[in-house]
Amino acid sequence: PSLKDVFAGQFKLGTAVLVNEIQNPNSPDAELVRKHFNSLTAGNELKWDATEPAEGQFNFTAADKIVNFAMDNGIAMRGHTLVWHSQTPKWVFYDRGGNLASKELLYARMKKHIDTVVGRYKGKIYAWDVVNEVIEPGDQKPGGLRNSLWYQIAGEEFIEKAFLFAHEADPDAKLFINDYNTNDPVKRQFLHDLIKRLKAKGIPVDGVGHQTHIGIEYPRVQELDDMIQAFRDLDIDQQVTELDMSIYTNDTDAYETFPTELQIKQANRYREIFDVFRKHSDQLSAVIFWGKDDLNTWLRTFPVVRNNWPLLFDERLQAKYAYWALVDPA
Ligand code: XIL
Repeated sequence: PSLKDVFAGQFKLGTAVLVNEIQNPNSPDAELVRKHFNSLTAGNELKWDATEPAEGQFNFTAADKIVNFAMDNGIAMRGHTLVWHSQTPKWVFYDRGGNLASKELLYARMKKHIDTVVGRYKGKIYAWDVVNEVIEPGDQKPGGLRNSLWYQIAGEEFIEKAFLFAHEADPDAKLFINDYNTNDPVKRQFLHDLIKRLKAKGIPVDGVGHQTHIGIEYPRVQELDDMIQAFRDLDIDQQVTELDMSIYTNDTDAYETFPTELQIKQANRYREIFDVFRKHSDQLSAVIFWGKDDLNTWLRTFPVVRNNWPLLFDERLQAKYAYWALVDPA
């Protein structure tokens, strides 16, 4: 069965891909994407370092391939991401003299970038991660905004500008604030209050994106339930934008093969988590996996190089127990 059909009427079911996975539309990889998913995210190809590596020099070769693949196959395309501290070229933050850019220079570059990228895909990309990971990670400084170069130059206002520019460039796109560990109570509360503040000022924030890179044990399912629940009162859309489930509980273990008991544990946990998503389907417009199969997962290089099996399909694109747990939850 097709995953998107299983969840039809509840939320879109999506995946991230890298361009090489869909380059050949007749490949098994492309076939799998078409069969199971109705939302698509570019894993890297729409990030700043990919689209504007040098000032004013835009390159959309790879991004176009993914967007065109989505359009050709009736798949809704998500945009990831416009303003982020990572995978953003250094030149964005410095002037010609090598000093930190002024606010004005930073905003001019931000506007040019957003106009060009969002404008190019106007009407094709239904949702944008306008800002990504702007909340300080709870393990460093609880609460507060991340002390990125964006923040150092412009303070909280850079977030407002990013949303305003994106809205100008495509008034119909749904604009998201995206972050990880949004189940963490301190981080979650700060994010919640930030969105509330932005909305009170009339900033066009349409939704919150929960990346949801989780492990085989944590966060507990109840914490994911609380995560969605916590944003209900804001009257915004919610999406799970980057779901995957590492089979590890630390950065040092590494398995040669995927132990059967963990395969079963993973399947059961995925089933319980999707029960929560289903329960909140009035809040959630999409659930998107960060990759489709265990070969093409960023978790084989992050946080360290090792085997990992975080997704629904294995290295040979065969459906795992985790897949069957979702299509046949009984
Ligand atoms: C990751 C990509 O999957 C990798 O290929 C790249 O090397 C680093 O970025 N949160 C995000 C994504 O918002 O953009 C990240 O993607 C994964 C974590």
